[in-house]
Order: sequence, then C-alpha cells, then structure tokens
Amino acid sequence: MHRRDILFSDHTLFRDQEVFDFHHVPEQFHHRGAQITELADLARPGMEGASPGNAILRGMPGTGKTTTVLKLFDQIEESTRRIVPVYVNCHTDRTQFAVYAKIFEKFAGHSLPASGTPLAELMKKVAHLVQDKDCALLVCLDDANYLLYEQELNGLLYTLLRLHETYGRVRIGVFAIVSDMSLDLRRAVDNRVFSVFHPDEVTFPPYGKSEMREILGERIRQGLYPNTMKKNALDLVVDLACEQGDVRVGIDLIRKAARTVEREGRPAVTRNDIVAVSRHVVSPLLQTRAEHLTAAELEVLYHLARISTEGEVEMIAGMVFSALKEQMKISYTTFHERLKKFEQDGFINLHLRTGRGRTREIVLRYDPLQVMEACGSRHSA
Ligand SMILES: Nc1ncnc2c1ncn2[C@@H]1O[C@H](COP(=O)(O)OP(=O)(O)O)[C@@H](O)[C@H]1O
Ligand SMILES: [Mg+2]
Repeated sequence: MHRRDILFSDHTLFRDQEVFDFHHVPEQFHHRGAQITELADLARPGMEGASPGNAILRGMPGTGKTTTVLKLFDQIEESTRRIVPVYVNCHTDRTQFAVYAKIFEKFAGHSLPASGTPLAELMKKVAHLVQDKDCALLVCLDDANYLLYEQELNGLLYTLLRLHETYGRVRIGVFAIVSDMSLDLRRAVDNRVFSVFHPDEVTFPPYGKSEMREILGERIRQGLYPNTMKKNALDLVVDLACEQGDVRVGIDLIRKAARTVEREGRPAVTRNDIVAVSRHVVSPLLQTRAEHLTAAELEVLYHLARISTEGEVEMIAGMVFSALKEQMKISYTTFHERLKKFEQDGFINLHLRTGRGRTREIVLRYDPLQVMEACGSRHSA
C-alpha cells in the first residue's frame, strides 16, 4: 500500500465522523422540551428589565444537561440582545477569577491583558461592561461541583449575585449544572450565599429505551451510511447505554465498532462487534465517573475494590468497614456516606440482605481491577 492509501481508504462506513465527537451539538434535539421551557421561563425576566432566575440542573452524566443549556443559549443569542448568556465549563475554569475572566471575554470580545489583573478589579470591569450593554447576564456554570471542590463556589456566587449592591443595577442569573447526584448544591452553599441564591431545581432523568433508541438512531442516520448497522447491533447499543443511563456510552460504542468494521473492510456493524468494543467502552466511562470523585472518596473506592479482589472478606458493609479501618482512618458515618455516593454514581449496588439482622451486601458494578486502575494515582493510599 502507498502511504496515501493508508490514510485514504475508499471503504468507509462514516458519512460524517464529526457527529460522534463528544463536543458535537446535535441539530435534532428532542425529549428535553420540559427542561428547556423551564429554563427559558427563568431566563425571560432578563428580557423584561429584571434579573433572570437561578437554577440548579441536576442529572447523571450523559442526560443532556450541557446540550440543553447550549441549545437554549443559542436561541437566546439568536433572538435577543437583552440577555447575554455566558457558558463556563468549570472542569477547565475552576476558580472565581477564571469564571469572571470568561464573562469579561464574552463582553469585551478579547481576553484579559496578560499582566495580572486583581480579582476585585476584574469584578468591577465585568460589572461596568454588563451595565454599559444594558442587558442581563446569564451565566451557566457547567459541572459546578468542581468549583465546590476547589472551594471557589461560595465566593463566586456571593460576589456575582451581589454585584448590584456595590455597582448598582447589574442583573445576573446563574444556572449551575451538577452531575454528581449525591451532591445537594443548595445545602452545600453557605448561609450568606443562600440568602441571595434561590435556585429552582431542574432535573434530567435518564432517557428511557425508546428515547435512547431515537437519539442514537438519529445519530447513526447522520453519521453512518445506510445499512451499515444491523438492527440487533443497535438493540444491544441501546441496552448498554440505558444500563449506564448515559447517551455518551451509546455514541462511543457506535463510533468504535464502526471504526473496527471499517478497518477490517466489512460492510456492517454486527451485534458481535458491539460486544467486542463494549469491553473497552465501559472503562472510559468508569474513568470519567472516577474523575468526579475527590481524593478521599477515591481512596475508599480503591480499597473497596482491592478488598473484593482478595476474596478474604465477605462483601457485607460491616465486614468491609472493619477491613477498611485497618487500611485507613475512617468513621462509620463517612463510610456510610461514601457507599451511598458510590451507589448513586453507579460504581456499586447495595443489596439489602435480611437474615440475622439487616445487612447490606456491596456489589461492584465493574471489574474490581478496572476500578482500582480508574482510581489510579489520584487516590492517596
Ligand atoms: N435529547 C438528545 N438528543 C440528541 N442527542 C443527545 C440528547 N441528549 C444527549 N445527547 C447527546 O448525548 C451526549 C451527552 O449529552 P450532554 O448534554 O453532554 O450530557 P450531560 O451534560 O448531561 O453529561 C452528547 O453527545 C449529546 O449530543
Ligand atoms: Mg455536561
């Protein structure tokens, strides 16, 4: 094969690879009408001279939260200048300063001068920019839990929502997105913030099977050529994605399987291809989920997985707790909270066993070795 042929093969299953990218915003976006309406209702006062309302958007990863906000923000930008929406990904912008800098960039149309601007100066600039435009500012803090871990959230919300007290007439609303179902952001903020941050809660339940099938089916229609995916292969993708409650799992399975099939010069993705790639797809998901844990949580999860590989301890909550205490300092209350979080995040299932008293059996939902690896170097053990 010539070098050119290695890169450019005639045989392709993909009509458009880009639709399988994680950051792709789909043209067709259904099933989140209720959430978009709720958020639009909260934004609307911004058009009428008042402040937009605040919201917390809650749902497991891959339930369409980010896309919903991006779609709404697009619509706002297309239809009015009276609200300026600013989307901030707190995974990358984790400090109060970074968030204000994003808002500044959006309004000023250029980034901050490289020379260090003090935070107070930056806030003042932002307040004046918003006032000069005579618009309402609507900030989305996506994955706001990162700001909380960095202890930046309280300060940010407090100063943002009180800018008007110092600078007069600044109208601001905040949409905070949280994928960590064990986190109740309302309770996590302190009292002084609570007095100015009264968010509505907008929930994003996982998609049901028929919704998942429609979403993934549409992605396939756009991204692959016709008849390149067998029906029973899609059935399995839908099942696996629903099991994890995460659309991303489905998209990733389709892309990886189609790549393999293309490489092998075959015409269509079969159910077996999905089975084969699913072994590699679930683990990145586990990785992403683990990235959302704090170092202290990772440590507990790591030991939990390790104990289960050794097979010496029955995986009953009380017994695991005793074994864990030999490895690390942990109270029963903390242990209990961690288990609850791991269950909500989909790492484990807790089965209630009745017999001699009520006990809970801990069942890992992933291969324990994979879990240990996902906890990786961030756990402090
Ligand atoms: N209703 C939907 N229609 C089409 N694609 C969707 C829908 N919901 C989610 N997706 C897709 O699923 C993936 C995850 O969605 P995202 O909005 O990032 O979820 P979250 O922010 O809740 O983790 C993205 O690729 C997105 O395009
Ligand atoms: Mg998101």
